[in-house]
Amino acid sequence: MAEIGKDIAKAASILRQGKLVAIPTETVYGLAGNALDAGAVTKIFIAKNRPYFDPLIVHVRSADSVKQYAEKIPDMALELMNRFWPGPLTLLLPRKKIVPDLVTAGLDRIGLRCPDHAMTLELLRSLSFPLAAPSANPFGYVSPTSPYHVNDQLGNAIEYILDGDQCKVGVESTIVGFEDSTPVIYRLGGLQEEDIESVTGPVKVMTTSVSNPQAPGQLQSHYAPRKKVLIGNINELLKDFDRVGVLSFREEYLSGKIGKQIVLSSSGDLEETAQKLFSSLRELDKSNVDVILTELVPDVGLGRAINDRLRRAAT
Ligand code: TXA
Ligand code: MG
Repeated sequence: MAEIGKDIAKAASILRQGKLVAIPTETVYGLAGNALDAGAVTKIFIAKNRPYFDPLIVHVRSADSVKQYAEKIPDMALELMNRFWPGPLTLLLPRKKIVPDLVTAGLDRIGLRCPDHAMTLELLRSLSFPLAAPSANPFGYVSPTSPYHVNDQLGNAIEYILDGDQCKVGVESTIVGFEDSTPVIYRLGGLQEEDIESVTGPVKVMTTSVSNPQAPGQLQSHYAPRKKVLIGNINELLKDFDRVGVLSFREEYLSGKIGKQIVLSSSGDLEETAQKLFSSLRELDKSNVDVILTELVPDVGLGRAINDRLRRAAT
């Protein structure tokens, strides 16, 4: 098992040796390595069992450092960074050659983000390189929102997990790129479409793909627990099973068939729902039930990212 601790200098020293450290962010925990060192980046793919066609997000300390890694920064991207960084927004920009091919999976754009977490920002400021970091989970599984989630699944692959408590946002960053000069959302996430539009005007959303090998976050099945997940009217779905786990939005369901139930937010708060979503899926996945029944949340704001993750978990 890995050591869990709050020692930023220790995390920095491990990273300088070309090894991996799990880091907290406001969205989910990342599995980080030196983004400019192809050897360190290879270790990330191996630890996650991640296919090499799936590019990694590079985490930077500030908007100012982006020009070191991106060839051109459109004005709209600059405005988005100034407005929302540090925060749950990843920008796809034309990359510079200094970034190894492995990081971008050979694509000509690099994904960049400045995470909103005090410890990780301090860590990034103490390093002379940016950090490549996908979510710290085995490929295809639910992302981790606590250091214990990371230890459960990747504890044998890394030596240190930087403990930054529970993630505040709970779903991954929103990924935005540009086609000609139209902003495109490739993954719904912690930053709402409405917020992006308030800066850029209308955006295009392109988040589903049956098997687009350029962005597996777009795969229909991703972010999934091992147990079968079904979405719909929970009272109806209950009829077909005997020992179920229920992940409900605000209402508590009553049935002798329910072995374990988690209500995401009894007040119907979408931020609370996002924050609890992945840890609740993990808890139900571990519990003694045959299937997980869940329901969609209102399809507005953060609710769209939540529904996106629920649908992928159920595919
Ligand atoms: O919130 C987050 O974004 C978290 C934290 C750790 O920062 N990271 C995260 O990374 O969710 P990951 O690797 O699990 O998901 C990143 C997604 C992948 O679906 C990947 O295909 C896409 O971003 N991506 C990264 N770089 C890309 C690029 N250059 N072009 C297209 N898609 C890219
Ligand atoms: Mg991931």
